[in-house]
Amino acid sequence: MRHLLRVRDIPDAELLWLLDRADTLAKAHFITDRASSPLAGKTIINLFFEPSTRTLAAFELAGKKLGADVLSLPVATSSLQKGESILDTARTLAAMRPAVLVIRQREEGVLEKIAAAVSCSVVNAGEGRLEHPTQALADALTIRRRKGTLAGVRVAIIGDIAHSRVARSNVALLTRLGAMVHLIAPEALLPKDVQATTATRLFTNLKDGLTGADVVMALRVQRERMDEYALGQDISNYHLDRQSLAFAKPDAIVMHPGPMNRGVEIDGALADDPVRSAILEQVELGVAVRMACLEAVSKTGQKTGIDTAPTYC
Ligand code: NCD
Repeated sequence: MRHLLRVRDIPDAELLWLLDRADTLAKAHFITDRASSPLAGKTIINLFFEPSTRTLAAFELAGKKLGADVLSLPVATSSLQKGESILDTARTLAAMRPAVLVIRQREEGVLEKIAAAVSCSVVNAGEGRLEHPTQALADALTIRRRKGTLAGVRVAIIGDIAHSRVARSNVALLTRLGAMVHLIAPEALLPKDVQATTATRLFTNLKDGLTGADVVMALRVQRERMDEYALGQDISNYHLDRQSLAFAKPDAIVMHPGPMNRGVEIDGALADDPVRSAILEQVELGVAVRMACLEAVSKTGQKTGIDTAPTYC
């Protein structure tokens, strides 16, 4: 795996390695032998063109824990303000010879162009509505830890699915690992590009979608990606609280990728319930998963000689 842009970029052979490695790293409280890390002495550049708290912090910590030099670029004050294209900014930074560029980007399709134009690895930290593969890995590991397996586990995702890259990556990853995914939203916020299959079902009725769920994940309304019509949708019937959670299995866990809007898509007290809520575990495992992903892409880089080749075209 040279780049990690989509869940489908992860080869089967590497998928379980990533989850197992992240699990081990989390159990070791992220402590590694930095000197023997594939990242030791290398540079990671975090280039976030959209706001981020946990993903940026997790990638920065992950790189540092692996002994890399990590540069997180304050994009708001960068040359983008002076009219430079995102592709030129990425190529400019790639010329500084990082092993990995970690990019969060609003415009869909640009990450692929960047990956084709640079010879370092590119990791997707959130691309428009399309994908957020490392969040899905953190979510998969959280579920595996709480439920012991992904196989046969029923995961219900409630809220603004249409604009959510987390939902799309979770559908791709969780079904690949044997889970069933139920997507629950008002008609206008169900994705047009996600087909119902035996493993993925779409619901407009909250109770139907939640029945039998082992995991219930709430999503933030992505106002910044919505048109007028979507903004006018009433989501008050798609709220995760103790009453709606009662439709799921009695031991169902609650998840949210953050940032949470308490009282909007999720009840605050439920989010804080240490028995039902796995929200902070998602954050913790997010660091471990990003460590494993950075290790995986930089190992590939070494094999293909990227560290000696010029990192620009
Ligand atoms: C999400 C994102 O940015 O896609 N958060 C995250 O990375 N954990 C979800 C969101 O912004 O609502």
